[in-house]
Amino acid sequence: MNLPKIHSISKKICVALLGGFLLLFVLFHASANLLVLRHDDGAWYSAFCHFMGTNYIVKVFEVVLLGFIALHICFTAWLWLTNRLARPVRYHQAGRSKTHPGSKLMMWTGILIFAFLVMHFCQFYFVKMGWVKGEYMVKVEKLQDEEMMQMMQMANQMDMTPEELIDQLEESASAYTDENGDAAETDEYIAGLRDKLAVMTMVQHAYEENNFSEDRQWIRHLTYEDRQLLREVLPESDPEPDFYFMVRQLFQNPIMVLLYLIMFVVLFIHMRHALPSAFQTLGLNNYKYGKAIDVIGQIYACVVCLMFAAVAVLVYLGL
Ligand code: HEM
Repeated sequence: MNLPKIHSISKKICVALLGGFLLLFVLFHASANLLVLRHDDGAWYSAFCHFMGTNYIVKVFEVVLLGFIALHICFTAWLWLTNRLARPVRYHQAGRSKTHPGSKLMMWTGILIFAFLVMHFCQFYFVKMGWVKGEYMVKVEKLQDEEMMQMMQMANQMDMTPEELIDQLEESASAYTDENGDAAETDEYIAGLRDKLAVMTMVQHAYEENNFSEDRQWIRHLTYEDRQLLREVLPESDPEPDFYFMVRQLFQNPIMVLLYLIMFVVLFIHMRHALPSAFQTLGLNNYKYGKAIDVIGQIYACVVCLMFAAVAVLVYLGL
C-alpha cells in the first residue's frame, strides 16, 4: 500500500503537539466540572456553560479542539499503519519488541477513549448542537416580549384569558376580511399571536411547577419541543441545554457511574504514558530529567482523573 510520504518523526511530533493540547484541555474540563459539585442549584456551572456556549473566542477554540482530536486520531492511525507496513512479518517470539508496555496499550486505550467520546458527545455535546434531545433552560429576562406583555394586559383589562382574546380578534378579523377580501396578512398575524400564546402557556406552566433556578434567573426543565417553540417564536430567547441538571441526572444511574469510572482508569493509563512520550518526541526528555518527567506525567494523569471521578462519585452519593 502506498501511503503519502511524511517522515515518521514529523508524524510523531504532530501527535505529540496535538496530544499536549488535549492534555491541557482535559485538565481545564475536569476543573470546570467541579462546579457541578457546588450546591447552588447550578448557578455557577450554568453561568460557565452559558459563557462557553456564547463567547465567540470559545466557539473558535471548540472547533480547533474538535479538529485537533480528529487530527490526533488520524496521525496516530497513520503512524501505526506505516509502522505495521514497515514490518509485515511479526516478531517470531513474543516479547522480543523493546517497546514500552505502556506505549503498546496506547492504541487500545485510544480506541476506547474514542468510543467513550462518541457516547459522551451523544449525552452532552450533540444536545447543544440540537442533534440529540435533552433538557433545556432559558433566561427569564429574555422572555420579556413587548407583544406578549400587551396581549396579557389587554386580556386582563377585558377580563378574558389570552386565548379568548385571540379567538375574539380572529372572529373580528375574519368578519372584516369577508367584507374587504385579502385574508393572508391577518391570518399570519393571528398565527403569530397563537404561537406567542403557546410560549406564554409554556412559561405559565413552568411558573406553576416552580421550574426555576435558585436565583430565579433561569426557567429550567424545558423539553426539546419547548426549545423548538422558543427558537421559532422568540429566536432571541436562545434556550440552552441544562448541563448542570443533565450531569446530575446522568450520575444518578449506577451503570453510568461505573462506565465513566472505568473510562477514567483507561484515560489514566493513556495519559500517564502520553506526557513523558510527548516530551521524548519533542526532544525535551533526557537521562537527567527522564524519571522526574515520568513521575510528573503520572501525577498529572492521576489528578485529572481523580477530579473527573470525584464528580461522578460525589453526585451519585448525593454530596
Ligand atoms: C465527570 C466526567 C465528565 C463530565 C461531567 C463531562 C461533562 C461534559 C459536558 C456537560 C459537556 C458539554 C459542555 C459544552 O459543550 O458546553 C462536555 C463536553 C466535552 N467533553 Fe466532557 N465530561 C466529562 C468527562 C470527559 C472526559 C474524560 C473527556 C475526554 C476524554 C471529555 C471530553 C469532552 C469533550 C471533547 C467535549 C466537547 C468540547 C466541549 O464542549 O468542551 N469529557 N463534557
